[in-house]
Amino acid sequence: MLTDVTPLLACPVCGESLELVGPTLACENKHSFDVARQGYVNLLPGRARPHTADTAEMIEARAAFLGSGRYSPIADAVAAAAELASGATANDTCVVDAGAGPGYYLARVLDALPDRRGIALDISATAARRAAHAHDRIGSIVCDTWKRLPIRTGAAALVLDIFSPRNAAEFARLLAPGGSLIVVTPAGQHLKELVGVLGLVSVDEHKDERLDDSLGGSFKVREQAAVEFEMPLSHAEVSLLVRMGPSSRHITPEQLAGRIAALPEPVTVTASVRVGVYRVR
Ligand SMILES: C[S@@+](CC[C@H](N)C(=O)[O-])C[C@H]1O[C@@H](n2cnc3c(N)ncnc32)[C@H](O)[C@@H]1O
Ligand SMILES: [Zn+2]
Repeated sequence: MLTDVTPLLACPVCGESLELVGPTLACENKHSFDVARQGYVNLLPGRARPHTADTAEMIEARAAFLGSGRYSPIADAVAAAAELASGATANDTCVVDAGAGPGYYLARVLDALPDRRGIALDISATAARRAAHAHDRIGSIVCDTWKRLPIRTGAAALVLDIFSPRNAAEFARLLAPGGSLIVVTPAGQHLKELVGVLGLVSVDEHKDERLDDSLGGSFKVREQAAVEFEMPLSHAEVSLLVRMGPSSRHITPEQLAGRIAALPEPVTVTASVRVGVYRVR
C-alpha cells in the first residue's frame, strides 16, 4: 500500500519528504500529487510522457502472459537472488522495481522477503494501476526512470530492473549500503523459435556489452546466471508473448494472427535470460 512506503518517497520537484494529506501526497513546499482511486500516485512533474511507455494493450498482454506462470523460472531466479542479496541491508529498506510493468516480479520477490516493502515504478499508468494490486506490500508510482526518481537516497535494499530501462546513477543513489541491483536481460537465444518466423525484433547481439557499459561506471557485477528453459506454448500464449513486447509496435494484429496460425501447436519456445547481481562501486 502507498501508505506503507510514503516515508521512503521524496518530492519529485524539491526532494523534500512527502506526506499523505487526504487524497494527496504533499511536501512542505506545497507541491502536491493526487493519489488515484486505484491506489497509485503519479509523481511525474508536469504532463510529459516519454514514448517509451508500454501501451495499455501491451501491459494487459504482459499481465495475462505472466499470469500463466510460463516465466516463473525467471521469477524464481530473481527471488532467489533477492533473498541472498538482501541480507546485507537494514530491515527498514525496501525493494524498488524500476519499470515494474504489472508488478509480477516484485510481488514474487516480496513473497520471498516477508519483512520488506516494495515500490513499483513505471511510466505507464496502466502498469502502475496493476502493480498497485499485485501485492499488499507494494506502493505503486508513475515516474520516469530517466529523471531523478522520487525516492529518498539510500532507501532501497534492492533495485530490480527486469527488461526495463536502466538509470545507473539513480539506481546507485537509491541503494542503501550493502544493497544490490538485480538486472534481467534477454540473451541471444531468447524466443529464438519465434524471432525469424514471426518477424520479431531480435535481441541485439551486443546487448551484454551495452549492459556492462551502461552500468559499469556506477556498479560492479557480483554474480550472474543464465536461466534457460523451454515452454510448450499454445497459439494464444504466443500471441500474448508477442503483444507484450516491442514487436507489437511493428506487426499488425492480422499479420500476427496469420503468422501464428502457421506454427505447430503447441510450439516449443526457448526462454533465455541473464540474471545479474551488481553492487555499487
Ligand atoms: C519490457 S516491460 C518490463 C516490465 C516488467 N519489468 C516485467 O518484466 O514484467 C518495460 C517496462 O518499462 C516501462 N518503461 C519504459 N520506459 C520507461 C521510463 N522512461 N520510465 C519508467 N518506466 C518505463 C514500460 O512502461 C514497461 O512497463
Ligand atoms: Zn516539493
